[in-house]
Amino acid sequence: MQTLNAIRLSQELLLPKVARARCIVDATAGNGKDTLFLAKNSPEHGVIYAFDIQENAIETSRERLMEHNLDGKVQLILDSHANIRSYINKPIDVAMFNLGYLPGKCHETMTMAESTVSALTDVVDQLSVGGIISVVAYPGHNHGQEENNAVRKYIMTLQSKQFTVICIDMINHINHPPILYIIEKLKSE
Ligand SMILES: C[S@@+](CC[C@H](N)C(=O)[O-])C[C@H]1O[C@@H](n2cnc3c(N)ncnc32)[C@H](O)[C@@H]1O
Repeated sequence: MQTLNAIRLSQELLLPKVARARCIVDATAGNGKDTLFLAKNSPEHGVIYAFDIQENAIETSRERLMEHNLDGKVQLILDSHANIRSYINKPIDVAMFNLGYLPGKCHETMTMAESTVSALTDVVDQLSVGGIISVVAYPGHNHGQEENNAVRKYIMTLQSKQFTVICIDMINHINHPPILYIIEKLKSE
C-alpha cells in the first residue's frame, strides 16, 4: 500500500493547523473526503467553506458530512472557487485545493488554470499569518500540465520573507504523478 501519496501527505501536513483553524476553505469539495477531514479535525467553532461547481459533488459532500453529523460546520457552496471573495471576507487559516476532476465521475468538468490561479491568489491574499494552503496538481491529465505550470509559476513569485513554499514530487514515478505544493504564510509584510 502506498502511504506516501499527495492527498494523504497534504492532510498530514495540514492537520496541526486545521486543529486550530477558525476559517477553512475546501476549494474543490468533490466527493467530500477532504471536506470531511477538515470538519472532523477542526475546532468546534471552526467554519468550513466548501466550493464545487457540480451539483452532484455538493450533494455527495453533504451526504458524507451528514453521515458523520458534521454538516452544521460546513457551508457547501455551489459556485466556482474563483468567486471566493464573494463569500469570505475574513482571514483564512487553512485552504485545500485538490485539483483536476472527480475520479470515476464526469471527466469533462475539471479545474482550469485561470480560475485556479485566480482563486489561489485570492486565498493567498486573505491568508492569516501562520495560515497554510495545500494544492494537489495532476500534470498527467488533459489541461493538468498547463494548470500545474500556472500554479507553479504563480507560487514561485511569493516573497520568501513572507511565505514558505514547498513542493513534493514523486520523482521516481512515471506518467506525471500528482504534485503537492504547500504554502505557509510567515508574516504579514
Ligand atoms: C479532484 S476533485 C476534488 C476531490 C475532493 N477534494 C474530495 O476529497 O473528494 C476536483 C473537483 O473540483 C471541482 N471543480 C472544478 N472546477 C471548479 C471550480 N472552478 N470551482 C470549484 N470546484 C471546481 C470538480 O467539480 C471536482 O469535483
